[in-house]
Amino acid sequence: MANEWNTLSKKAPKIQDAKNRVLNEKLFSLIKKYAPKSGTAFDYGCGWGEFADAVSQKGYATEAFDEADGMVAQAKSQYTKPRFYTNTEFVKKLPTLAGKFDLVTSNLVLCILKKKDQDVMLENLKILAKDGAPIIVSLCNPCSDYLTVGIVTKRIRSHVWNPKYDKEFKYKKIVHENGIEFTDYHRPLSYYIQLFKKHGLQILDIAESEVLDTQAHPDFIAFVLKTKEG
Ligand SMILES: C[S@@+](CC[C@H](N)C(=O)[O-])C[C@H]1O[C@@H](n2cnc3c(N)ncnc32)[C@H](O)[C@@H]1O
Repeated sequence: MANEWNTLSKKAPKIQDAKNRVLNEKLFSLIKKYAPKSGTAFDYGCGWGEFADAVSQKGYATEAFDEADGMVAQAKSQYTKPRFYTNTEFVKKLPTLAGKFDLVTSNLVLCILKKKDQDVMLENLKILAKDGAPIIVSLCNPCSDYLTVGIVTKRIRSHVWNPKYDKEFKYKKIVHENGIEFTDYHRPLSYYIQLFKKHGLQILDIAESEVLDTQAHPDFIAFVLKTKEG
């Protein structure tokens, strides 16, 4: 697929601080609860690399991958500790990375993918995780992503956007802080529950992002998953 993030990689150094403020603390509390205190970690769809860097600052030997070469170039130029892979490098390296990681994370990637790419991603996450290791996947919250404004983004209504909670629809969103615009998909919560089940992933826990001092609904939701065999 043509990855629009190659172009976006040069438009800002990260998505925005608000995303980190509402989401990162929740993710790290899940990591603390489900992952060993140190070990190996992999961040899938790492974007500008800031979360992979934050994980490595917590003491994990961190590796990361993004499908957009432009993103990986930005990540490599900003952070030296995690090891970042381009798509070509990742595909080549995957067999040697199998079963290597005590913690696998992926933030805000699953909800931007077409269904066939979601299947590839979830199978790759399973390959990367050690037996029983937590796989923490966050995505745009299906329970709020059909509303027009969130803490982090504005979601654009147009004549083609006819949101119905129980139907899939594609929409554009604009990040408040830096004006970056990108495409996302809404699918109902039950879609993701069935998707994880189809891939043999058990849901251990769920957390929603902070709403800070606003009356907004949480922008994001995070799932702690593990392979059923684990
Ligand atoms: C919304 S950004 C999230 C970036 C980062 N995880 C974060 O939280 O800041 C989505 C990222 O997913 C990447 N991406 C898109 N399709 C992908 C795929 N099939 N496999 C891995 N990464 C992908 C994009 O290049 C982009 O960097």
